Amino acid sequence: MKKALAVLIALTLVFVMAAACAEGGGGGSGNLTVGFSQIGSESDWRIGNTVSVSNAIEGAGWDLLFDDANQQQENQIAALRNFITQGVDYIVFGPIVETGWDAVLQEVKDAGIPLIMIDRTINMPNQENFYVSWITNNFEEEGVAAAEWLIAYLEHEGRMGEDINIVELQGTVGSGPQIYRMQGFHATVGRHSNLRISQTETGNFETEEGKRVMETFLQVAASNGETIDVVFAHNDGMALGAIQAIREAGLNPGVDIIIVGIDAVKAAFEAIIAGDMNATVECSPLLGPLVVEVIQDLEAGRTPPKTIINPRGTFDMSLYQVFPDRFTSAAAEVGNRVY
Ligand code: AHR
Repeated sequence: MKKALAVLIALTLVFVMAAACAEGGGGGSGNLTVGFSQIGSESDWRIGNTVSVSNAIEGAGWDLLFDDANQQQENQIAALRNFITQGVDYIVFGPIVETGWDAVLQEVKDAGIPLIMIDRTINMPNQENFYVSWITNNFEEEGVAAAEWLIAYLEHEGRMGEDINIVELQGTVGSGPQIYRMQGFHATVGRHSNLRISQTETGNFETEEGKRVMETFLQVAASNGETIDVVFAHNDGMALGAIQAIREAGLNPGVDIIIVGIDAVKAAFEAIIAGDMNATVECSPLLGPLVVEVIQDLEAGRTPPKTIINPRGTFDMSLYQVFPDRFTSAAAEVGNRVY
């Protein structure tokens, strides 16, 4: 009798679990395997992104196959092929650079695995046929926002009559954020003849490389008899590296040289509050919950949005008081940062 009861309970459990799986729509329905091909761990932003996406997938009750490509496109291509071989149900993919994906994305498509693209852009013919959804930030607008903050700040400081010498720390060459942040920033400062970008070089989105490139910028400027007025860094990590180089050169970061970054990571907020940095433009890495919503839509037979773009803000400790509708206090936001 006891044995029969145990079998009945076991069968009921199996039935309940099967019913939950059949209901689908994710939300802990189990059974799904999601492959996540991540670029690397070059910045606080990237680590925040890895944690957000991984936690959201596992939190939904799905199995995660994670691959860190260590900044190498060939590693990402190998990871995507490995996901195909393993027969995953979904692939989440943040492409390191824009081009060179044609063959492997065709293979993913031929395998019938829905691909959710996150973060960066790709550039290939009919690219929208190769992903079900693309969850991202608007990199060009981020570059525009950084330039608009700078112009507002120089105006507020009464310096728009001066010649202003800007140096630029670019992200990974060929990546969407490098291409479009540069375009947005250059186009906006290019409308003002007193704003000149005198040196521009990649720091590969890394703090150490940002520091090394800034040291070279300072040496070149000194040998040309120039001063540097502004650093525009394509991410906060490189801005923080530049701060170290500026300090080691005997200058006062945030005062002698204005420093504007992108990402809005916690360490940048702390530098802004300390007066070592001046502003940062938000680019949210918290894409995980949106990835889960897309998969839940697909599991339930709904069509997810083709493109999802996160809103952004600009944070500082000065202009937010003058233009509260355009800028936000870094001190008010720092407590909410999780990356
Ligand atoms: O693609 C987003 C960029 O990549 C972030 O701005 C940068 O910090 C990261 O490495």
